[in-house]
Amino acid sequence: MNELSLRVDDRAGSGHALQSNILGWADLSAGRLLRSSRALRRNDSSRNGYHRVSQDERFMAHALELAERGRGFVSPNPMVGACIVKYGRLIGQGYHACFGSAHAEIMALRQSGGLVRGATMYVTLEPCSTYGKTPPCVEAIREAKIKRVVIATMDPNPSHAGRGRTILKRYGIQVTTGVLRRAAEVQIEAYSKWMRTGVPFVILKMAQSLDGKIASRTGESKWISGSRARKWVHDLRASCDAVLVGRNTVAADDPLLTVRNGKCRKSPWRIILDRSGTCSPKARVFGEGAPTILACSERLMDEAARKFRRTKVTFCPLKVNQGRLDLAALLRCLGSIGITSLLVEGGGEVAWSFIDGRLVDKLVWIVAPKIVGGRDAKTSVEGLGFEAISEAARVRMIRMVLVGEDLVFEGRLDSTCFRESLNVKQG
Ligand SMILES: NC(=O)c1ccc[n+]([C@@H]2O[C@H](COP(=O)([O-])OP(=O)(O)OC[C@H]3O[C@@H](n4cnc5c(N)ncnc54)[C@H](OP(=O)(O)O)[C@@H]3O)[C@@H](O)[C@H]2O)c1
Repeated sequence: MNELSLRVDDRAGSGHALQSNILGWADLSAGRLLRSSRALRRNDSSRNGYHRVSQDERFMAHALELAERGRGFVSPNPMVGACIVKYGRLIGQGYHACFGSAHAEIMALRQSGGLVRGATMYVTLEPCSTYGKTPPCVEAIREAKIKRVVIATMDPNPSHAGRGRTILKRYGIQVTTGVLRRAAEVQIEAYSKWMRTGVPFVILKMAQSLDGKIASRTGESKWISGSRARKWVHDLRASCDAVLVGRNTVAADDPLLTVRNGKCRKSPWRIILDRSGTCSPKARVFGEGAPTILACSERLMDEAARKFRRTKVTFCPLKVNQGRLDLAALLRCLGSIGITSLLVEGGGEVAWSFIDGRLVDKLVWIVAPKIVGGRDAKTSVEGLGFEAISEAARVRMIRMVLVGEDLVFEGRLDSTCFRESLNVKQG
C-alpha cells in the first residue's frame, strides 16, 4: 500500500469558509460555471438586469474556466487558474495542469514573458506562501513586479488562510479578494472539505427509472439511463478520486469501474464494501485498470486475504456496527491516503447506509423516462428507511438538467431536517 505515503505539495497547505454569492450564483457545477463564465466574458449584464459585470469579474471568470481544465488531474491539490492583464488586455494565462506540476500563477507569468511589470494578476485561489514541490508563488509574483493581485477565494487550510494575501500586501502589492468567490468555492469544494476535515467529499449517484427502480426483478440493470447520461456519469467519475459500490452490485453487474475517456490522470480507486469477502476474486473490479480496496470486517480479514491472495487488492479492515461496515471509519481511511472525493455508485443498500449515516455531501440522481415495475425489483434507496414521512431526509435541489432523454437532479441533503427528525425520535 505504498499510496499511503502520498504527499500533498505546498498548495495543500492552505483557507476557510466564505459566504458571498456573487451574481446570485448558488451552486455552480462545472458545466454551469463554464456557461456562466462565457456569458461574463461577453460582458453581459446579468439576466435580471441589475448587475453590470465588472472587468474583475470578467477576468476572474476566465481564470475559473482555466482552472476547470485541471479537473481530474490535480488531486489531491486544488484546481487553480490564473491570468495576467495589462491595459485591459490579457497577456498571459495558466492553470495547475497535474499533481506536482507548476502552479497556475507560474504558468501565467511564464506565458506573459517580460511584460508583466505593473500588470494585474487574477487567480482563483490565494497564492501559496510556503515551500513545497515548488517555491512560493508570492515570491514569483513579487519578483515579476505585478502591481495588483485579484483573488477569488482564500486558502481552505485554516492554518494558512490569509497568509499569502498578507505577504503580498507587505510587499506593497494591491490585493483584492472575493471576486466570484462563491463560484471558486464550489469549484474546489471537494478539496476544501478534505483539507478541513480529513475525509473525502461524498457524491451519491443513482440512476433510476421513473418508478424508482435501479434494476428489474431479475436483477438486470443495464441500462436504465440513456447513452448520453452514461457518458455524463463517466465524466463525473473521471473527476473523482475514488468510486465505491456494494458487493451485490459487483455480483450482479461485474463492473470494471474504470475511466476510459482520457479525462483524468489515472482511473479512480475502486472501493468495494464486502463484509465477509464473498465477492469472487475473478470479478473484473479486482483485475487491472485501477487499484482496488476491499473494505471488509476486521474479524474476517485473514479469511478474505487468503481468498484474494492472487489479486492485487488492498484491504481496509473495519469494525461492523449492526451488521454493516463502519463507513465513517472507511472515509477517514480514504482521506488519509489522499482521496479527496468519493463517488458512491450504489446499489440501494449502500445508498441507504450513506444517507442514514449523514455522510453524503451531494446527490446526483438520474431519472430515466421508463417504468420497470415489480415488487421485488430493487429501488434506488433500500435499507430500513425512515419510519414516518415527516422524518424523510429532505433534499435541497441545486439544479435539474436534461441529459439526452434523462433528467439529472443535483442536490444536497438538508442537514437541518436530520436534526429535526432526530429530535422527533428523542421526543
Ligand atoms: N441503477 C443504478 O444506478 C445502480 C447502481 C448500482 C447498482 N445497481 C443495481 O443494484 C443492485 C444491487 O443493489 P443492492 O442494494 O442489492 O446491493 P449493494 O448496495 O450493491 O450491496 C449491498 C451489500 O454491501 C455490503 N455492505 C457492506 N457494508 C455495507 C454498508 N455499510 N452498507 C450497505 N451495504 C454494505 C452488504 O453485504 P455484506 O453484509 O455481505 O457485506 C450489503 O448486502 C444490482 O441489481 C445492481 O445492478 C444499480
